[in-house]
Amino acid sequence: MKKRVAILISGGGSNMEALLRDMARDHPAAPVLVLANSPDAGGLAKAAARGVATASVDHRPYKGDRARFEAALNEKLEQAAPDIICLAGFMRILTPGFIARWQGKMLNIHPSILPLFRGLHTHQRALEAGMAVHGCTVHEVTGELDGGPILGQAVMPVQAGDTPETLAKRLLPLEHQLYPMVLRRFAVGDSKKVSIFA
Ligand code: GRF
Repeated sequence: MKKRVAILISGGGSNMEALLRDMARDHPAAPVLVLANSPDAGGLAKAAARGVATASVDHRPYKGDRARFEAALNEKLEQAAPDIICLAGFMRILTPGFIARWQGKMLNIHPSILPLFRGLHTHQRALEAGMAVHGCTVHEVTGELDGGPILGQAVMPVQAGDTPETLAKRLLPLEHQLYPMVLRRFAVGDSKKVSIFA
């Protein structure tokens, strides 16, 4: 039986696409739902074009009431009954209750070499710190923001003249390599960490 995967997105969903592309090949998991926190998320159309079920729960009407927003999110998720949830550029902070419900089943990709630069503006902060390398991390989601066991990382050199934009642009293709590799291992219970050196 293939593992059922739900992907949560907020935007263009390029990481989501990389996961869908890989799952379209011989794979231990299959996508059952792409869920966005805005009906305008560009990734929804891309998922639908690949024949994957999509849904959205707009966070705006909930006006900061995270518990109610997450209850609506959870309803969609429970219907899809995923074994694994992949956060892929999902830009809402999740409450401990939601995380506890899916703990051990939820993955996230973060654009830094964790535990460095948790939170936002990672490319800018890597440059400000004078890093010689930068990268991305796929980790299990726990109650700690951008904490949780590291499952894989991709690392690349920082070059003279790099800006947050050039770093983001060079890093994204590595994210697209890393996340599918981690998901393949996670889906079969292989806990060997993935490492990519670009
Ligand atoms: C990626 O850089 C991801 O690491 C970060 O948000 C961006 C999402 O891009 N969390 P996309 O929506 O997958 O194209």
